[in-house]
Amino acid sequence: MSLTDKLFERNGRDAMRAIEVGEDHSISVIAVAVPTPAPGEVIVSPVCCGICGTDLHIVRHGFPGTRYPVIPGHEFAGHVTAVGSDVRDIKEGDFVAVDPNGTCGTCRWCKAGRPNLCLNLFPLGVARPGAFADFVAVPARNAYRVPESIGHSVAALIEPLACVLNAVAASGGVKDRTVLVMGAGTMGLLLAVVCRKLEAASVTVCDPAVGKHAVARKAGIENVAMPDGLGSSLFEVVFEAAGVAPALVAGVGRLDATGTLVQVGVHNEEDRVGLPPFLIYEKELRIVGSNSLADKFPAAVEFMPDIRDEASALVTDTYSAWDFAAAVDNMAKGASVKTLLTFPGPSR
Ligand SMILES: NC(=O)c1ccc[n+]([C@@H]2O[C@H](COP(=O)([O-])OP(=O)(O)OC[C@H]3O[C@@H](n4cnc5c(N)ncnc54)[C@H](O)[C@@H]3O)[C@@H](O)[C@H]2O)c1
Ligand SMILES: [Zn+2]
Ligand SMILES: [Zn+2]
Repeated sequence: MSLTDKLFERNGRDAMRAIEVGEDHSISVIAVAVPTPAPGEVIVSPVCCGICGTDLHIVRHGFPGTRYPVIPGHEFAGHVTAVGSDVRDIKEGDFVAVDPNGTCGTCRWCKAGRPNLCLNLFPLGVARPGAFADFVAVPARNAYRVPESIGHSVAALIEPLACVLNAVAASGGVKDRTVLVMGAGTMGLLLAVVCRKLEAASVTVCDPAVGKHAVARKAGIENVAMPDGLGSSLFEVVFEAAGVAPALVAGVGRLDATGTLVQVGVHNEEDRVGLPPFLIYEKELRIVGSNSLADKFPAAVEFMPDIRDEASALVTDTYSAWDFAAAVDNMAKGASVKTLLTFPGPSR
């Protein structure tokens, strides 16, 4: 019996295992009470959960809005094990993917149809307990039934896909336009895959990490280059999905007249970059931000079956949930694209 199983046994049947990140950024496997569903909530037993940059920020430096100690995990799918008193559309046993962004529904941004800008956001895995646990409580309206046949790991990629669809919407659309994606991580490669599906005139990905090029090709992206290997090419749409200053500066320089750069990468709050105002004026460029998934989760549920194989090609590493610390160490090497945690299921 493993250490975590012993911990679980010792705490009885009302306890579950969870990964906790402390204020001091320590990672531990803890035993906590199994959540019970409040009205309007369901309890989900995750089967698969992605680790992303947000989780790494929570572990390493802190992420705005994090309430420590926190159980991270926000890119997940699983089975519903209990439903709150007034939940009608979801039942026990359903397989669901979860939009982790709890919103208030009443602030000016929620009322304006911009839920990602909600003034009272309470994202799962950041401001309330997330999915790196045997069970997680979820607002029922955030749980979307998906066919389990889509695959557990693909279902866990619906959340990042929804962020990608929001970024594509921010670009003004990619059909028949030339696209450059800076960064071949999960976000960049999902963006590239989606842009191909949406019939962009061409899709090019650039990344200095040559190991990522092979993953890009596996996902069907043929034009993959080093950042200094693009010659004099200009593009109508550039997605900055690297999250580093040089990529943003280079990306603006790659825009053709009237082109749009979508800022997807999350930089440090204190970062500043030098941009060429003359070019922005002369070429009538647009630079727009894309923050999280807004209202795109249902669209991502619908879109995922179309890119199922390409999405699964992005999963390079899989760990058992209780080996989260080892997964984080491995991600630090910079070679993985998507790392997923799988759950053995509660031992009851
Ligand atoms: N806007 C959103 O809604 C949203 C959602 C999820 C993640 N993100 C952010 O998007 C970014 C990408 O996420 P990810 O999970 O794919 O991260 P990742 O770290 O896996 O990928 C980033 C990639 O950028 C590459 N890179 C580094 N410097 C580069 C350069 N100069 N030019 C081109 N590529 C370069 C790296 O080698 C790496 O492969 C991160 O900043 C993340 O925080 C944003
Ligand atoms: Zn994420
Ligand atoms: Zn709100």
